[in-house]
Amino acid sequence: MKIAVLPGDGIGPEIVAQAVKVLKALASDGLKVELEQAHIGGAGYDAAGDPLPDATMKLAQDSDAVLLGAVGGWQYDTLPRPMRPEQGLLRIRKGMGVFANLRPALLYPELASASTLKPEVVSGLDIMIVRELTGDIYFGQPRGIQVNDKGEREGINTMRYCESEIRRIAKVGYEIAMKRSRKLCSVDKANVLETTELWREIVTGMNKDYPEVELSHMYVDNAAMQLVRAPKQFDVMITGNIFGDILSDEASMLTGSIGMLPSASLDANNKGLYEPSHGSAPDIAGKDIANPLATILSVAMMLRYTFNNEEAAGRIENAVKNVLAQGYRTADIYTEGTRKASCSEMGAAVVAAL
Ligand code: NAD
Ligand code: IPM
Ligand code: MN
Repeated sequence: MKIAVLPGDGIGPEIVAQAVKVLKALASDGLKVELEQAHIGGAGYDAAGDPLPDATMKLAQDSDAVLLGAVGGWQYDTLPRPMRPEQGLLRIRKGMGVFANLRPALLYPELASASTLKPEVVSGLDIMIVRELTGDIYFGQPRGIQVNDKGEREGINTMRYCESEIRRIAKVGYEIAMKRSRKLCSVDKANVLETTELWREIVTGMNKDYPEVELSHMYVDNAAMQLVRAPKQFDVMITGNIFGDILSDEASMLTGSIGMLPSASLDANNKGLYEPSHGSAPDIAGKDIANPLATILSVAMMLRYTFNNEEAAGRIENAVKNVLAQGYRTADIYTEGTRKASCSEMGAAVVAAL
């Protein structure tokens, strides 16, 4: 298993180091892995003048899977857009064709009191958000900032989805729903946006291929509200790129912290890019206090989805349960009476539990 390791910026290197410790622990136990590091994001810009250096894209293409930390930092926020760290991330997603972004919001029972919501609202929570990742307003043309006919500057982005893009992500949603509770909620804004009118029509039409799946539709504004009102009504949610970006950050707080939310981004053959759902957290970077669990849990997703190694994936997830049961908490999930751990202590605890 050849894995490209792209730490990126901010807390990226700190959290990826913990995930690498976990992979190495599994390797010492017989798992065959070969790791190779490369730059992405601001680190790519600093090293090679490009947030996605050619060598990094080539390494990603030559690897079976990619483990990524996070990209972005204040010092890069004023660069011309193509040079910004976030462009490196968008380009590697597009380049790898990883259109299906799975973001599971799962509450570990030990963290019920770490959420800002009441424990009874979140306990037992287990939602899979399926976010389309290579289309929508993120990539739609035309885009840019131009002078309009009144001589005023205007910013333009275009929300667009074609039928095949909708169909392939809907298929992923239906298939995941079939393996879970067979409940699928498609989130859109079909009351206003034609893009999502088409989305709704296609998702509805495909229900005949999955008659056991109970399909529902919800407008995104209502979905945002329902996620904090009664999140356990959801099982699998499918949505477009921008709505999925926003809803998954919201859902992360139901699990205690965004530092708990892993992700898998898959292409049609389950080759994948694995990264936590959060960003580079420049406010806490370099302090060894970030939560590495979302990244470690992303490694579990890598073993499950790309390498079909359910056993090793389960071992990592059990080790995470175990350290939470032992009381280890990084600052973001700390509650009174638990045991404050740094990022590296948390990584070491997971390795010990493995
Ligand atoms: P962010 O997710 O980086 O941080 C939001 C808040 O959550 C911050 O207070 C941060 O300290 C906290 N946080 C995030 N991850 C944490 C962790 N593992 N442990 C503890 N606390 C954590 O979002 P932001 O502040 O809006 O963005 C910061 C930078 O990251 C920006 O440059 C943005 O573009 C980039 N970004 C990158 C990705 C990615 O690489 N996938 C995702 C989101 C944002
Ligand atoms: C995420 C991030 C990215 C996104 C940004 C940094 C491009 O917010 O992975 O959720 O919007 O997809
Ligand atoms: Mn995001």
